Amino acid sequence: MCGIIGYSGYRACLHVLLEGLEKLEYRGYDSAGVAVLAAEGIQARKAQGRLSALEKLLETSPLPAADCGIGHTRWATHGAPSDRNSHPHCTPHLAVVHNGIVENYAALRTELKRQGVEFITETDTEVLAQLLESCYQRTGEPLAALQAMAARVEGSYGLAVLFCDRPGQVYLARRHSPLIVGYGEKECFVASDIPALLPYTKEYAVLDEEEMALLDHGRVEVYDPQGRPVEKEHLTAQLPAQAADKGSWPHFMLKEIFEQPQVLQDTLSTYVADDLPNLAPALPDKLLQNLGTVHLVGCGTAMHACMVGKTAIESLARVPAQVEVASEFRYRDPILLPGDLVVTVSQSGETSDTLAALQLAKERGIPTLAIVNVPGSSLARAADMVLYTQAGPEIAVASTKAYSVQLAVLYLIAIRMAWARKALPDARCRQLTRALCAIPAMQQPLLGKAEEMKMAAQALQNASDLFFVGRGMDYSLSLEGSLKLKEISYIHSEAYAAGELKHGTISLVTDGTPIVALATQSAVYEKTLSNVKEARARGARVLLLCSQNAPVPDALADEVVRLPQCEELLTPLLTILPLQLLAYYASVLRGCDVDRPRNLAKSVTVE
Ligand code: M6R
Repeated sequence: MCGIIGYSGYRACLHVLLEGLEKLEYRGYDSAGVAVLAAEGIQARKAQGRLSALEKLLETSPLPAADCGIGHTRWATHGAPSDRNSHPHCTPHLAVVHNGIVENYAALRTELKRQGVEFITETDTEVLAQLLESCYQRTGEPLAALQAMAARVEGSYGLAVLFCDRPGQVYLARRHSPLIVGYGEKECFVASDIPALLPYTKEYAVLDEEEMALLDHGRVEVYDPQGRPVEKEHLTAQLPAQAADKGSWPHFMLKEIFEQPQVLQDTLSTYVADDLPNLAPALPDKLLQNLGTVHLVGCGTAMHACMVGKTAIESLARVPAQVEVASEFRYRDPILLPGDLVVTVSQSGETSDTLAALQLAKERGIPTLAIVNVPGSSLARAADMVLYTQAGPEIAVASTKAYSVQLAVLYLIAIRMAWARKALPDARCRQLTRALCAIPAMQQPLLGKAEEMKMAAQALQNASDLFFVGRGMDYSLSLEGSLKLKEISYIHSEAYAAGELKHGTISLVTDGTPIVALATQSAVYEKTLSNVKEARARGARVLLLCSQNAPVPDALADEVVRLPQCEELLTPLLTILPLQLLAYYASVLRGCDVDRPRNLAKSVTVE
């Protein structure tokens, strides 16, 4: 979603701002803007559309040289995408960029209007800027103004502000929306996300809830909500600067699909020792031994990973597990009992609904575990226990490699749970762990099927609707395959438990309707094939994914993609690759913006 960058230092800041915004593009946005504080005062430029539109505007309407400034990519929430609604929002004394949502903006707007303030947009951020302006006029001091503003605002904000009479300085405030300060030599930075800092520094600190900060060339001062100085722990980003670069790949998504064997290997080697999952101290055996129900919570792809996790936990450890859509869980007053564990799964660690679900569990006194990819993210900081996936930065909006490593960690938890509770013999747990560690090598040849999947994508690129079907874990994979295809190719598809099709939806199957059938589980293989035959009899065009040795009757499918034989419970780590490639090529063939699909944001920080 929206991205923030800010700079105070010795460089011409515009270059730093634009470079930072480019690194934040992956979050998803529909307009961009910058403001600098120069001798002439604050000046801003903003433009709807891609960053290139802003760059073009800056050519015809250049900004003066300045040593401090702020920049923003906006993903519209209040008010349509437009030049005017873009950030920064400027008032007589300041300019603001804002991530988050002001929930009481309507009441504040009415109040400010009564005081004579004129608004030129419908945005909540303009209200925030005007509120801060009025606080600044009253207090005459930036931090006091931010404190006064905080007392009036309901909602979330990551804020970077220029005050016209504070040369060289950028002020920050955080509530439920991440801000990271970066430390350099005689310069400092702020960003909503680490990749924006990487071209300049790896040393950073994460602002905590309600903290404020001042950036002034090499000086970073952080304050608690009462305005008392706070010492921040300096962290070092482990990512190489080029980790978020596309290199020679045509798209981030393809790069990330192909990175899966490596990141899976990295994740497994972090958590496996002596042929067993080694999750302590993060996740102690004592907790696993005394579990009631495991609640697995996430959104989108992460929630689909939870579905596979549920099957693994229940079948290996025989512990009841429930999958919860975070946005539902948080409002449905879930039954959480002593002994339960809430596991939140998220790539970004910033998904608002998932964070709220975690918060709910904490309020109920239930232990929380986060499986998360971004170190220092809000979810990682809020959870009682954290297991990091090792996917590295995932830039494409469509989640691919993060899903694989989420599955890996969930499998490890299931195996460790089975071992700690003696639900399975020690030898079987070690055998499963070894089988899991063998998967990265099995993924490699599957990636070699890229051409095959491109041809399969050609066959369905003009479809208006299609189905993904499967039973058991294959149903979970169907949901993920369908989501991937929809979000980046805009082809409508539905995922169905194969046995459900005949209960209504088969009425939509006519001559040539494409069906992607997943049949990797031997226990339900024949059943799934029967369902495929039912669709086939109505003219469906079938792409079948099944294991290497599965017998496929003649004329059942138009194309068959064979997956290497592995421990059946682990097949999702193989099945997912052709599905991701199918979606990728469908998107490319249809000329879509693969990495930045319309309307979507990489991390969804609003509810
Ligand atoms: O960062 P998170 O894993 O919490 O994000 C959750 C979803 O927003 C995300 O998986 C989304 O569904 C992806 N665009 C799917 O590819």
